[in-house]
Amino acid sequence: MSDFPPWPDVVGSAEKKIDVDVAHTARIWNYWLGGRDNYPVDRRAGDEIRAIHPGIGDYAQADRDFLDRSVTYLAGEVGIRQFLDIGTGLPTAGNTHEVAQRIAPDARVVYVDNDPLVLVHARALLRGTSEGAIDYVDADLRDVDTILAAAARTLDFTRPVGLVLLGVVIFLGDDEDPYGIVRRLLDALPAGSHLVLSHTVTGPAMPDVDAAVAYWNQHGTPHLTQRTPDRIAAFFEGLDLLDPGIVPCSRWRPNPPPRTPPAEVAMYGAVARKP
Ligand SMILES: C[S@@+](CC[C@H](N)C(=O)[O-])C[C@H]1O[C@@H](n2cnc3c(N)ncnc32)[C@H](O)[C@@H]1O
Repeated sequence: MSDFPPWPDVVGSAEKKIDVDVAHTARIWNYWLGGRDNYPVDRRAGDEIRAIHPGIGDYAQADRDFLDRSVTYLAGEVGIRQFLDIGTGLPTAGNTHEVAQRIAPDARVVYVDNDPLVLVHARALLRGTSEGAIDYVDADLRDVDTILAAAARTLDFTRPVGLVLLGVVIFLGDDEDPYGIVRRLLDALPAGSHLVLSHTVTGPAMPDVDAAVAYWNQHGTPHLTQRTPDRIAAFFEGLDLLDPGIVPCSRWRPNPPPRTPPAEVAMYGAVARKP
């Protein structure tokens, strides 16, 4: 699968190999979401993790639903017309451009991921409205300069951007300056831009989540770093956190508002505005 033709409209290398012997996050996430773009190794690891933490499927779906509600809010009430979605994942229902262009057909979206299988399938992400624009960049979140230069082909960095980092900064270790990386991305965006971020949590009451992540770190790639809600809050420093703050992403403005709070998931999320 590594010799698919490179596309002239996609930045990046088509040379990376798809490793079918080790479970990979984009594919296992796709498995938990009910997709078919995964291999036996992903399904085996996915089932093992589900046995350790049965809520994992709900957590993946809650994250996607959070994407839908947050991007709907930004494109609708806030009027954001540009999105930079890093750690996009394999195409599934309700991709960022579909959500944004449903509200604003002229919305412009740049997707970034470093997974070779996501690159293979990215063509499916490039079909949007004729009024809007979509691009895909094959790059690593750590390569901030590369991402910003490539995204500037499609996005106007003098106008507000929705920076979407869902389930991806978990793959930056504490020794890789994760906060600095997010800060550098935000520094390139003007006031009125928003950060949407979700993150796997750890906490005293979550032994099965910790065990599931430990299993992942032994059997899958890339390595995942859980953080406490306090350490997740540090990604939002200097920004105006919108209500309800940093919460299980299932509880971020559920729509319609339920009588009782939706079940807690081990993925926290928040949206904040750059002042
Ligand atoms: C758990 S999935 C989340 C997908 C999607 N954002 C969502 O929330 O449904 C993580 C995605 O981040 C990508 N990813 C992981 N580390 C990355 C990195 N350093 N740079 C770019 N993408 C990365 C993976 O390839 C995968 O597609």
